[in-house]
Amino acid sequence: MNLDALNKVANRLVEPGRGILAADESNATIKKRFDGIGVECTEDNRRDYREMMFRAKDAMSFVSGVILYDETIWQNGKDGTPLVKLIEDVNSIPGIKVDEGTRELAGARGDLVTRGLDKLHERLPKYHEKGARFAKWRAVIDPTNGRPSYAGLVANAHALARYANLCQEFDIVPIVEPEVLMDGDNDIDTTYAVTEWVLKETFQQLYYLNVALEGIVLKPNMIVPGKKAAKQASVDEVAEKTIRCLKACVPSAVPGIAYLSGGQSDELATAHLSRMNQIGGFPWKMTFSYGRALQAAPQKAWSGKAEQVEAAQKAFLHRARMNGLASLGKWNETLEREAA
Ligand code: 13P
Repeated sequence: MNLDALNKVANRLVEPGRGILAADESNATIKKRFDGIGVECTEDNRRDYREMMFRAKDAMSFVSGVILYDETIWQNGKDGTPLVKLIEDVNSIPGIKVDEGTRELAGARGDLVTRGLDKLHERLPKYHEKGARFAKWRAVIDPTNGRPSYAGLVANAHALARYANLCQEFDIVPIVEPEVLMDGDNDIDTTYAVTEWVLKETFQQLYYLNVALEGIVLKPNMIVPGKKAAKQASVDEVAEKTIRCLKACVPSAVPGIAYLSGGQSDELATAHLSRMNQIGGFPWKMTFSYGRALQAAPQKAWSGKAEQVEAAQKAFLHRARMNGLASLGKWNETLEREAA
């Protein structure tokens, strides 16, 4: 393990002004997105869509790294250029999702546990050879209906740590993603309490598994109420509670935090990040690692039509720029409207 190299990559990923594009939807998930815009989910369409984003040079100037799905990392663009090369050519870092989704953990109140550790030690060097310098593994925690169970929480934290340990062995920066979901009716304080527990257990397991914190990026949820909660929260409340929770749980040796958007609206995901960076007073860089909150607008503009590529790239540029500003604490509503 070359910790110096890992630390350099981790720092590049969270460089102020830029953040990560999560373009690692599984075929089942991207099919859901394509269904929403009336596009058939074929291998070529998936390639064309992602190629459209990676060739959007202006937008990509705000993208420090791209998380790819296993199909995408091996694909070439229409003219034969490897998609990985398109990403490297704009000074962005290719990454790879290595988890294999979830399955219910027996006897754990319906908690899910993330799969994919088997043979991970054989897959990682192949991804590294192809250019991946970081990876992603997502644990999913449901904070409703008496969940999570102790068993579910510990199993997920342990799997994240095993994954992170393996990534570092093969000189790949692990993005450690324990996601507390925001789909339910949980209030903001429940999200806070569950996230605190999840983060504390995750860092305990990372410690037990000898993971070097200087060579990881944490990808947590923000402290928001569930979408179906009786009361929503202000931008200030989300920003303050998220900072407080992370300060209580995340060691300062971690170079950076790159949030998932988790189902927040595009603009709220941006506003929350910007407000946190405006408040400041924490030891890590804070940026985005958004999937939906970066792609919803360009997806809609593209709608599978070659003649719409330019409009889609423009929509992508706008969201990427707004989030780049948010990583500096410099986004505001006037800029959002002016540039739109
Ligand atoms: P969202 O920003 O859409 O939550 O996706 C980020 C991600 O990579 C989830 O694993």
